[in-house]
Amino acid sequence: MTRFTVNDRPVQYRMDPETPLLWALRDASNLTGTKYGCGTGDCGACTVDIDGEAVRSCQVTIGKTEGRFVTTIEALSPDRGHPLQQAFAAENVSQCGYCMSGIIMAASVLLRRTNDPTDAEIDAAITNICRCGVYPRLRGAIKRAGRIMRGEDQAGDDPIQAAPPPGITPDEAVQAVPALRKP
Ligand code: FES
Ligand code: FES
Repeated sequence: MTRFTVNDRPVQYRMDPETPLLWALRDASNLTGTKYGCGTGDCGACTVDIDGEAVRSCQVTIGKTEGRFVTTIEALSPDRGHPLQQAFAAENVSQCGYCMSGIIMAASVLLRRTNDPTDAEIDAAITNICRCGVYPRLRGAIKRAGRIMRGEDQAGDDPIQAAPPPGITPDEAVQAVPALRKP
């Protein structure tokens, strides 16, 4: 039995302790926002937050996660109101979107350290592979998220076009994002 915390909830997995965290999250907890790309630690599609660090969940076993705190994209902001989610939607960063949850989780760790990152800091923190090549746009969106966090910008003039997550109606999603509320 392996015990740790996922998205603020205690979990117990009756699985081989050598099971990669990625598979426990996806198959046992149905947290499919965390993606499988390479399985070799190269692409970053599986990135989650463990105790405040961006970690490639295909490369850490559930045994090594015992007692730790894991956050996945599903819990970054249930109302899509995180500055990164606002900025990425407003800047239309995503093409296929497959790499996005891993990139956003890595970026959220970066922005907790500094909300005004340089290009070099972004490039050092975001080593994820995007096969669609959206790197220039994602750099701009991370900087915009930083400006939103600093109160110098808002994504309000650009409608968020993505579908809301399951369980949240479009109206609730709009209510949840202050910048999109009608005056
Ligand atoms: S699936 Fe984990 S780094 Fe690619
Ligand atoms: S947006 Fe398609 S892989 Fe990154």
